[in-house]
Amino acid sequence: MKVLVTGGLGFIGSHTVVELQNEGFEVVIIDNLSNSSEDVLKGITNITGKTPLFEKLDLREKASVQDFFKKHSDVTGVIHFAASKAVGESVENPLLYYENNISTLVYLLQELQQKPEASFIFSSSCTVYGQAEKMPITEDAPVQAAMSPYGNTKQIGEEIITDTTKVTNINAILLRYFNPVGAHSSNQIGELPLGVPQNLVPFITQTGVGLRKELSVFGDDYPTPDGTAVRDYIHVVDLAKAHVIALQRLFNKKNLQKVETFNLGTGTGSSVLEVINSFEKVSDKKLPYIIKPRREGDITEAYANTDKANNVLGWKAELSLDEAMASAWKWEQKVRS
Ligand code: WQD
Repeated sequence: MKVLVTGGLGFIGSHTVVELQNEGFEVVIIDNLSNSSEDVLKGITNITGKTPLFEKLDLREKASVQDFFKKHSDVTGVIHFAASKAVGESVENPLLYYENNISTLVYLLQELQQKPEASFIFSSSCTVYGQAEKMPITEDAPVQAAMSPYGNTKQIGEEIITDTTKVTNINAILLRYFNPVGAHSSNQIGELPLGVPQNLVPFITQTGVGLRKELSVFGDDYPTPDGTAVRDYIHVVDLAKAHVIALQRLFNKKNLQKVETFNLGTGTGSSVLEVINSFEKVSDKKLPYIIKPRREGDITEAYANTDKANNVLGWKAELSLDEAMASAWKWEQKVRS
């Protein structure tokens, strides 16, 4: 089975390509290299011994997408990661996000609907829940009005897919990630944020190597045990494995509906201070940080109810926060060496 992975040279995409190859799938990657580099192909090959097919292509060019599917007519499964994903940037530049995250999804689905059958895995996010009322968060928690155009593109994307599967032979699984962190144990691939990292863990590891003076902790006055915000940090390798299991579920026609939704988290919430403590433990370094006001748009807490993923999808996160922090730290030191 040939599987298309869009954004396959990105952080989660590259880890998923490795797990697909480990399971014997032939992989073709589309990436426009706007937030990744072709060197990642080497990293993947060093791990699996197989170099995935790669097409440098911008999914915003409809004709290029059509040409791709003519050339790779044997693709019947797609895992769609390619999207812009910086919450703050999306507020400043909404049209970039609506074009890049929505039009590309439409072009992909227009190609897949022409096939006798197609399987589609969508990279969604717990952002769709906003600040959920109840913890841990289940898949039937209400989708709340998006706090950013980025979050809105995930909600709209889910709706487009749901509507499309009703009238086509496409079956889909929506994977709502919590907070992906860490790096592959081989230290061949990991997170490569461009510029100043928006996310907590890469900012911590860059502070650890001295690239950043100190970490700003955005708020210690939240209604949480230690006052800092709580998230569900899931190891990227656990997340990648879930994508392969989801795709196999569709290929083997085990899905119970045309569209199924799964939360992908560990089921455990960790505060910012707990993440800092984990880093200090695994790195044996003191992390300089300063308490700053809350960040605009941040929620207090979010962690997953993993029952559905465990019992229906047959997947469970296995790696701990310490293992994620240790792998992220090891990767940062390599990238900076
Ligand atoms: C985590 C916690 C911050 C940076 C976002 C997207 C989500 C997904 C993951 C794409 C928060 C605090 C952070 C810093 C800090 N992205 N923090 N200092 O905001 O939970 O989720 O990234 O799919 O869709 O919304 O992740 O890592 O930015 O923040 O104190 O320098 O760390 O306030 O409490 P977030 P994050």
